[in-house]
Amino acid sequence: MAVRTISPDVYSIGAIDWNLRLFDALIGTPEGTSYNAFVVKGTEKTALIDTVDPAFEEPLLKNLMRIGISSLDYIVINHAEQDHAGSLPLLLDMFPGAKVVADEKCRDLLGRLLDVPEDRVTVVKDGDTIDLGGKTLEFIIAPWVHWPETMMTYLKEDGILFSCDLFGSHLATSELFVRDFTKVERMAKRYFAEIMMPFRSSVLAAMQKVAEREVRIIAPSHGPFYDDPSLILDVYAEWTSDTVKNLVLLPYVSMHGSTAKMVSYLTDALIERGIEVQPYDLSKSDLGDIAMTTLDAATIVIATPTVLFGPHPVALNAAYILSALKPKTKFISVIGSFGWGGKTVQTLVDTLSHLSAEVIDPVYIRGYPTGEDLAALNALADTIVKKHEGLLTRSEEGSG
Ligand code: FEO
Repeated sequence: MAVRTISPDVYSIGAIDWNLRLFDALIGTPEGTSYNAFVVKGTEKTALIDTVDPAFEEPLLKNLMRIGISSLDYIVINHAEQDHAGSLPLLLDMFPGAKVVADEKCRDLLGRLLDVPEDRVTVVKDGDTIDLGGKTLEFIIAPWVHWPETMMTYLKEDGILFSCDLFGSHLATSELFVRDFTKVERMAKRYFAEIMMPFRSSVLAAMQKVAEREVRIIAPSHGPFYDDPSLILDVYAEWTSDTVKNLVLLPYVSMHGSTAKMVSYLTDALIERGIEVQPYDLSKSDLGDIAMTTLDAATIVIATPTVLFGPHPVALNAAYILSALKPKTKFISVIGSFGWGGKTVQTLVDTLSHLSAEVIDPVYIRGYPTGEDLAALNALADTIVKKHEGLLTRSEEGSG
């Protein structure tokens, strides 16, 4: 873990986790991640902003020593999740004079999750500042840019926004600042889809607060930093918008080939009609890739056989996660095959009900798909074309 200087007396001292492949036992991290922590030295006082995952607390302490920190006045905690606050109990032992700076909800969570004593925490409200001596920290309360207690910290003199999870990417890289955004954008998009997408309106509210300040550097809690903030702000503007693309996401699972045949047929039918389609075999695909595609897809069609009177569990799991991620998808449907009965379609439609998407008539057939079944898939493709054309017309009217 190297110490890097972001600007005079502002240091990045966090950890790069090159080998992490699963975050929260849920989110794939094929390119690792980082837990970014920062030191800001004023002429009078010194603040640590965020800590690191407890697995990296020893290197964090060594980095503090490397830059000559023998005492801390403040430990700002933007977010109580353990990947950022998990080393706080050790730091409070090591620096008994340090005050934790957090918003009220964060103070409560720190007590619940990490047993941090309430009397060690100074509670701040939106817009409150702390003067370190020539370095002023302003606290921007930004709830639900992951958890309800999240906040950002803005270093006024240097124009640095320590943005917490917002604008992050699970990407282990030796680059301090983003230089090749094409490489970083994919990981930032994946991160947005998996972590921020359920909170789009909160992200927009936080972005409004960012726009009200002169931000020259964005330093999120995961991944590299932006000394050209427009790179990440521009793509966030697109991702948080209500627009979708002429794209169908087609996650599927098949046991004996009937559902796979339907997926293949529908895929070709959509392509022939000029619609972009992205099928994913759920038994082999990465959930992060699927989440990313939901960010753009106007329609999701889930394909599954019936197993034990309901959807294949892999398809049900995907539907549950898609529902929780709340993509802006406008239409959903179900295709697949059953042997003798069950409630597959209703179970999936119910699971996806959080999406507020219009349900297009499913094509759920018995056995292997033949003439009439394939005709029904053609009809489904035709319906999707019409629905997407309607969307396009509405967006043109809206922009006119
Ligand atoms: Fe990176 Fe919500 O913690």
